[in-house]
Amino acid sequence: MCRCALLLGLIVVMSPAAEALDNGLALKPTMGWLHWERFLCNIDCDKDPNNCISERLYMQMADVMVKEGWKEAGYEYVCIDDCWLSRQRDAQGRLQADPKRFPGGIKKLADYVHSKGLKLGIYADVGKNTCAGYPGSLGYYETDAQTFADWDVDLLKFDGCFMDWNLLGEGYVNMSKALNKTGHSILYSCEWPLYEWTFQKPNYTAIRETCNHWRNFADVYDSWSSVKSILEWTASHQDVIVPSAGPGGWNDPDMLVIGNFGLSRDQQESQMALWAIMAAPLLMSNDLRDICPRSKELLQNRLIIAISQDSLGKQGYRTAKVDSFEVWERPLSGNRLAVAMLNMQEIGGPRRLVIEAVPGWRKCNPLCNVTQILPQYKEMGLQTPHSKMVVSVNPSGTTLLTITPISSNSQGLYKLHWQDTSVKQKRATIL
Ligand code: GLA
Repeated sequence: MCRCALLLGLIVVMSPAAEALDNGLALKPTMGWLHWERFLCNIDCDKDPNNCISERLYMQMADVMVKEGWKEAGYEYVCIDDCWLSRQRDAQGRLQADPKRFPGGIKKLADYVHSKGLKLGIYADVGKNTCAGYPGSLGYYETDAQTFADWDVDLLKFDGCFMDWNLLGEGYVNMSKALNKTGHSILYSCEWPLYEWTFQKPNYTAIRETCNHWRNFADVYDSWSSVKSILEWTASHQDVIVPSAGPGGWNDPDMLVIGNFGLSRDQQESQMALWAIMAAPLLMSNDLRDICPRSKELLQNRLIIAISQDSLGKQGYRTAKVDSFEVWERPLSGNRLAVAMLNMQEIGGPRRLVIEAVPGWRKCNPLCNVTQILPQYKEMGLQTPHSKMVVSVNPSGTTLLTITPISSNSQGLYKLHWQDTSVKQKRATIL
């Protein structure tokens, strides 16, 4: 009796606030590739055959994903975004791909992608039109869900343009039901809260029950200011959004733009580290056919991916802002902790941060083992309550550590840290 109550208590502490969409998908943050940020709505295949939105682009990405180790690293979904559609539905009212750019059709493309051991994602919109003006799914949810199922599509990104905001919730829920009714496993990626925030605070319990991940904030651009704005939005809404993340449903801060043009090496490392801390879907939008080795190595870094995919399934959050540094933490399985320290000062050189001096920081007690993952892998070894850990962080760069308490004592430091809400509240006041 007593043990049952304890177990129940533990489950309550460990579980996110609401039930996830019960389709057995996205038990860990989704990993893959999505065309939008890099390739936008480039439909000019005559002038730009290599980069236009066509079946060739996804086939080539799938080829590279297998050949160049992406699949092995965990990147699984090859995702189509806007602008794949024909301007008209077919005679039966079904969506159809642009026949010139997708001569084989989506079913054949899905077969190709599956033959590589990967999965195919597609894009549609809850409203009258997609954001780029192609036919939307309003009035056709069941037809479109069935069409995607007939094509063996594995993921649907469902945008929220051209929709009365009052009907957003109903639309997203109805499409979720329609997908479920097909009996096919289709991961459901929503933008419901993003379109609702302008008008009211979204209901994250309902969102988690409906979607496998959901965009909250503006589209990512290939720039540090864009990445920074996403981090700031996330941190300033963390009390609302973090509790809703967990196996089956995740907050989606949008694509990784690593390997493109706008981020420096340090900024790319910051995006990768923070997306892992945020338990974000890792959907790259870049050109995998032509990516520099450093960006590739970063995106395929197994230790960062392990943080992203950690089985505890908790989203991290910002715990301190001090001296133009931001400290973000994510609790990991095995009572471990991932800590990211960002240097937000964009002038000068590398700056030192004494970790024990971070407000609210709780020392290793009695012992913990610290590993630095970024900027380079380094065993920092065993630390005690008397240790002084100092890191040097480049401007707009991040130092990423994992901390493993060495103690069988249930009163161990990091355990307390994550389960004692009064500590969390105290730390929150530091921000
Ligand atoms: C919106 C979405 C983007 C992308 C475009 C396509 O802006 O937020 O992620 O899908 O539409 O038009």
